[in-house]
Amino acid sequence: MRIIRTSGEMQQTALTLRAAGRRIGLVPTMGFLHAGHLSLVRLARARSDAVILSLFVNPTQFGPREDLGSYPRDFARDAALCREADVDILFAPEAAKMYAPDASVYVTEEHLAAGLCGAARPGHFRGVCTVVAKLFNLCLPHVAVFGAKDAQQLRVIRRMTRDLNFPVEIVAGPTVREADGLALSSRNSYLSADERRQAPVLRRALDEAERLYRAGTRDAAALRNALQGIIAQAPAARIDYIAVVDDETLAPVQTLTKPALVALAVYIGTTRLIDNTVLQA
Ligand code: PAJ
Repeated sequence: MRIIRTSGEMQQTALTLRAAGRRIGLVPTMGFLHAGHLSLVRLARARSDAVILSLFVNPTQFGPREDLGSYPRDFARDAALCREADVDILFAPEAAKMYAPDASVYVTEEHLAAGLCGAARPGHFRGVCTVVAKLFNLCLPHVAVFGAKDAQQLRVIRRMTRDLNFPVEIVAGPTVREADGLALSSRNSYLSADERRQAPVLRRALDEAERLYRAGTRDAAALRNALQGIIAQAPAARIDYIAVVDDETLAPVQTLTKPALVALAVYIGTTRLIDNTVLQA
């Protein structure tokens, strides 16, 4: 496995791979890798013959009061996991090498990014779109793989790829979970033992939404109320948002007639966790 630290070397290597007719698969991450990230590597592997995993804790997607400084990092462990997972290139640029000190061009998606996490974290998706656009230009992937766990991110990136004509196929990987239902996340490492016991309440709430939907509930307010009731059972939980939105437009829905995304952001103690499910007939 080759480790690349600079944008220039990454882009040159990608150009060489393309010239040799290799199909490039990219898995963008912020590191502190877990089985969810590694499942995306396997999807990339199956669709390409050179797999690049990017590891970059992207400063532009963190708000001023968010966890950029404390975001978990363990490069040696991540590199070992990438080697085991048969990653060909680990692209791990330094922040100073990724953005020019006077960088002044950003990519903004103006519709799908407005609500949900975009409303709760102003500027977040501008940072995500900008860094993913840069990664596309540096790694020149034919295919890029993203997790369904970050539902809004996936939809925003698909829209950016379409609207800016990136020649990249976007593939979605299903959410990988712990045995008790908690979605794997690098941020789970912030949870105390007691908070960790309470954290599966997000998945339990989504299970209830799926159950109610199968039983015929189509009223979004009724679904939200039921979810709120379940989350309130966990003393460490504080709801940031519970949203029932159209799966395509991410516009709020009152009555479910088309596939709907149920998305949750819940603080467990001081750790903000997200999860989601899609309800469809
Ligand atoms: P990060 O949170 O490290 O996630 C990297 C990728 O792994 C994302 O596509 C995310 O959806 C996926 N992922 C996270 N948890 C998962 C799980 N439990 N199951 C399956 N996939 C999972 O998302 C980011 O980084 C950044 O915003 C990034 C896209 C890299 C831009 O900086």
